[in-house]
Amino acid sequence: MKLLHLDSSVLGPHSVSRQVSAAIVDRLRKTHPGIEVTYRDLTTTPLAHLSGSHLAASQGATPEASLQADIAAGQQVLDEFLAADIVVLGAPMYNFTIPTQLKAWIDRILVAGKTFKYSAAGVEGLAGNKRVIVAVSRGGFYGADTPAAVGEHLETYLRWVFGFIGITKPEIISADGIQVGPEHREKAVSGALQAAGNLDAA
Ligand SMILES: Cc1cc2nc3c(=O)[nH]c(=O)nc-3n(C[C@H](O)[C@H](O)[C@H](O)COP(=O)(O)O)c2cc1C
Repeated sequence: MKLLHLDSSVLGPHSVSRQVSAAIVDRLRKTHPGIEVTYRDLTTTPLAHLSGSHLAASQGATPEASLQADIAAGQQVLDEFLAADIVVLGAPMYNFTIPTQLKAWIDRILVAGKTFKYSAAGVEGLAGNKRVIVAVSRGGFYGADTPAAVGEHLETYLRWVFGFIGITKPEIISADGIQVGPEHREKAVSGALQAAGNLDAA
């Protein structure tokens, strides 16, 4: 069994989502002895933003030399994703949505013919065989009953993206209110770590 562990926080050791994603992976190492873990830090080895040259290369054009390493990196992240049985993703909220480094990764895994396809019936996700667990961390609160709910474009976006490729039930463990104050932060982090430690094996 293969697990792909991704982090996208720029806050290094101070990151909440990194702490929680690591706890999720620890839990899954216990419930799945022998699981093969691949780790990718999307901030220390960022993928380039998609460009016209990337798209041309994906249509068969010969890429400029300067782009070749990045195209190979994009292929590698797609292969890693396709090979994974379980994906654990650390996803902090920055400016109401995901970090730009995580968007660059998503741009490389939403590939027609690989993770989704268009058919007469509409879009069909091709990656539905994976378990996806997301460690979300947010400075504020965005519950349905809060005034900020309309500004939530992290969890709603990721649910849509994963659903689009067939992963209709991503598991979300969230730590909210991280910036509200130290007490809130402590409560949110310990709650998320507890949820990580209680994750089901499957
Ligand atoms: C650049 C930046 C932008 C942020 N934007 C938001 C935001 O729009 N909404 C929010 O609730 N919190 C925001 N925060 C707070 C983070 O969501 C919070 O600190 C969270 O813990 C970040 O996850 P991390 O610790 O794993 O990096 C922002 C933090 C940073 C550093």
